[in-house]
Amino acid sequence: MENILIIGAAGQIGSEITLELRKIYGDSHVFATDIKNAPADIRDGGPFQLLDVMDDKRLIHFVIRHKITQIYHFAAVLSGNAEKLPVQAWKINMDSLMNILEVAKLVEEIHKVFWPSSIAVFGESTPKTFAPQVTVMEPSTVYGISKLAGERWCEYYFKKFGVDVRSIRYPGLISYKTEPGGGTTDWAVEIYYDAVRKENYTCFLKEDTTLPMMFMPDAIKATINLMEVERSRLKLHSAYNIAGPSMCPKEVAKDIRRHIPNFKIQYEPDFRQEIAETWPESIDDSLARTNDDWKPEYDLTRITDIMLKEIREKINNSAQGK
Ligand code: SER
Repeated sequence: MENILIIGAAGQIGSEITLELRKIYGDSHVFATDIKNAPADIRDGGPFQLLDVMDDKRLIHFVIRHKITQIYHFAAVLSGNAEKLPVQAWKINMDSLMNILEVAKLVEEIHKVFWPSSIAVFGESTPKTFAPQVTVMEPSTVYGISKLAGERWCEYYFKKFGVDVRSIRYPGLISYKTEPGGGTTDWAVEIYYDAVRKENYTCFLKEDTTLPMMFMPDAIKATINLMEVERSRLKLHSAYNIAGPSMCPKEVAKDIRRHIPNFKIQYEPDFRQEIAETWPESIDDSLARTNDDWKPEYDLTRITDIMLKEIREKINNSAQGK
């Protein structure tokens, strides 16, 4: 019997993976938690509680009381926001991970942990295209440094204490359920919302800045597949590269015009341009593909079709008070 704790269940990834895991393990076995209130379907569809992962004493009580066997930890300060308050972001990103690793070490019943890494672990000295699994990594953002350090800590806890931590270096994630906040790849979600709302978007990156992206259903599938793989088949216990389609704002704008011919975009690069320029344009995920049969299903065209349709529906529903 598995009991799964989700930290950050109100966020972009946490809100979607909670619903997916409830389908697999049963609603009452997936405990959604966050420091803020979660969307209604998360709150009403199974257990939801306010929980601060920084509070290690409450965390361990929660884990014991609910007989937790797996933890997914999605709470983090993303790349853009972390640059505004570097020391605080470092503290939140690192201390929260350390609390989770310690609790997994102490509580024997916890036999698996998921923690997300990111393409932000790469830096200017990493090859720009098809960034390899093992390569030079000199991240220049607080977020990237915390993710790289986190990867090393995950592997350390696996080797020293046998904590089975699994991780993925997520590309920018595109989704319509819950919007991301404070990341460098947020433009790839904002652009669709603004296209539907006002047929116009002002992008904070330059038109030709290409970054690796992935549609949320592919990211969820990759995550759950990784968590289901037999431990003996895993090739590493830090974080796997995974790849979806790479795209730049100009390409996405062009694709949106298939549906909204009058869509306009202007470019006002801000501090996030500098961050984006240190990340690779594409990722080599051949190692992840040997774990299971995972490969991404969604290309830019499918992503655009679904994003525009779903966002339109969401905006119409909320206008009608649904
Ligand atoms: N999407 C994240 C960000 O932009 C990268 O992992 O911060």
